[in-house]
Amino acid sequence: MYFRSILVSSALFLGTNLSADQAKKEFVLPSSVLEIEGDLEYGEYLASDCQTCHRSDNKNEGIPGINGREITEIVYALHEYKNKYRENEVMQMMAGGLGDEEIAALASYFASLQ
Ligand code: HEC
Repeated sequence: MYFRSILVSSALFLGTNLSADQAKKEFVLPSSVLEIEGDLEYGEYLASDCQTCHRSDNKNEGIPGINGREITEIVYALHEYKNKYRENEVMQMMAGGLGDEEIAALASYFASLQ
């Protein structure tokens, strides 16, 4: 019960950044993870692995474009794949190899693109 109420209150606390979907799943990242400032250059360097699939012109040809998304949205998506809250196996594998700093860097970089 105590654990549940912590989850609920942190979901409320982070409510401004969370979609209803994410809150429902109770997948909540601690603010220490959300507050990491991503290094753009490092993100650019790491992103070459992603852009073989996520087109740099952002066209969705079966794989969604991710340029210009909100940083928080990308951070959540990657942590959700990493923790297997999202199903896609390829992305689970890609995100599984990333640490918090790398996820923050990638999110900053992709968010900075158009
Ligand atoms: C082998 C191809 C491939 C590679 C490489 C790849 N992705 Fe993906 N990515 C996908 C596919 C396919 C999806 C859609 C999966 C799904 O339906 O959940 C996706 C989904 C995503 C999403 C969620 C998009 C959304 O609309 O919810 C993000 C964010 C993302 N990828 C980031 C990355 C990052 C960052 C990297 C590099 C570390 C990367 N991807 C590497 C294929 C790839």
